[in-house]
Amino acid sequence: MATAPLHIVILAAGEGKRMKSGRAKVLMPLAGRPMLAHVLDTARALQPARIHMVYGHLGAQVQKAATDLGDITWTLQAEQRGTGHAVQLALEQIPDEARVLVLYGDVPLVQAQTLRRLLDKEEPLAAIVAHLDSPYGYGRVVRDGIGRIRAIVEEKDTSVDQRAITCINSGILVADARRLRTWIANLRANNSQGELYLTDVFAQADEEGTPASAEVCANPQEVFGANDPWQLAGLERMHQRSRATQLAAAGVRFADPMRFDLRGDVRVGRDVEIDIDVILEGLVEIGDDVHIGPYCRIRNSTLAAGTVVHSHCNLDGVVTHGACSIGPFARLRSGTAIAEGAHIGNFVETKQTRIGARSKIGHLSYLGDTHVGEDVNVGAGTITCNYDGVRKHVTQIDDGAFIGSNASLVAPVRIGKQATVGAGSVITREAPDGELSLARAKQTLVDGWKRPEKGD
Ligand code: UD1
Ligand code: CA
Repeated sequence: MATAPLHIVILAAGEGKRMKSGRAKVLMPLAGRPMLAHVLDTARALQPARIHMVYGHLGAQVQKAATDLGDITWTLQAEQRGTGHAVQLALEQIPDEARVLVLYGDVPLVQAQTLRRLLDKEEPLAAIVAHLDSPYGYGRVVRDGIGRIRAIVEEKDTSVDQRAITCINSGILVADARRLRTWIANLRANNSQGELYLTDVFAQADEEGTPASAEVCANPQEVFGANDPWQLAGLERMHQRSRATQLAAAGVRFADPMRFDLRGDVRVGRDVEIDIDVILEGLVEIGDDVHIGPYCRIRNSTLAAGTVVHSHCNLDGVVTHGACSIGPFARLRSGTAIAEGAHIGNFVETKQTRIGARSKIGHLSYLGDTHVGEDVNVGAGTITCNYDGVRKHVTQIDDGAFIGSNASLVAPVRIGKQATVGAGSVITREAPDGELSLARAKQTLVDGWKRPEKGD
């Protein structure tokens, strides 16, 4: 038995009517990734011989989304005739000697550890069940005196007495392929939904004198399913809470762990502080003593020790190389690299831009394709004109340069070492080292001009 190859069947063909969406239910995002991707990760962690995906409703969407997710055997369920029918089709490609683990694409929070406990069961049929205070909507598990499963009754088919049962079916089961094939062949759609219910195999096994064993899930939240947007939002909150709990255990101090979202992965150092409503996406690395202010979104970025991100910043593809300060209200885009001691202030946008040590870009600037040296001061309103409509061009600002406010730097162009650019200049040629460059209309006096007065 221990050597039986493990085949995992993931059910992802259902219509998901209750979502009222044009997108397949199993592709609804949880923590920024499709629910199905979470289920696949968990399936992979068990190192099965094979993963089978049953797809059907909006199947092209599901296949497209899952193609990057690795090696999967696809089973088309053209007509959704129920979960039993879905597994029956997958079984056509599964050998008799296999053990079959069935996962549901809309039950994404289950942990590999919990599934391993189910796989440790020796009976030919076993399921994960849980006790819920509000069991509404789930199949109810009818058990015998010693906790074995005698039947599972769907909500819509329950009697009044059965509705009071608080032990629910997670949908996740493990069975010997040969037996499962026989039980499924005997399924009948004589129920309120006219479907072949996978859950009816439990009553059949019981009739045969093979009651199934139940693995009671210690944390019922793991087996919650998402049938509608409200349940999906509930799963998202549970998932986020558990990520925040892990990070707090690693030393992160949250102003409010309930107002933090992680849509990807994060690595954290010591003494990291995160204010309210911060969203981290993709892969984010946060060094020691980093403070992130409220209302920030940080994606695929690395923040070196001591970096301070003030409120309302949007960072995507940013690397800081030392303690520096960003924001409030900065938008730093891909290819932005910031050195120690630099300061990026409010309403500054950067893209493909390196900023040297101690340089300051305090207010209202756009720097694209720019190399800023050390100890540079970029005045308020400075804009690099880096795009000619076809190509991008580089602006180079050397160490110690001082750019006056409201300058336009028309790339390609170089601002020399210790060069000064007068406020309001439109710079189209090199500004030489150490010199003052001015490129603006001269101020004139208009002779005899009078300000109009009211009544004129
Ligand atoms: C199902 C279980 C119920 C359990 C609950 C747990 C059955 C009959 N009922 O109910 O006991 O408490 O899950 O969340 O199994 N699917 C297909 N093909 C189909 C029908 C469904 O692939 O023909 C897929 C769906 O995409 C979904 C999964 O199977 O991923 C479950 O289907 P769903 O309709 O959501 O079942 P529930 O009513 O939630
Ligand atoms: Ca469901």
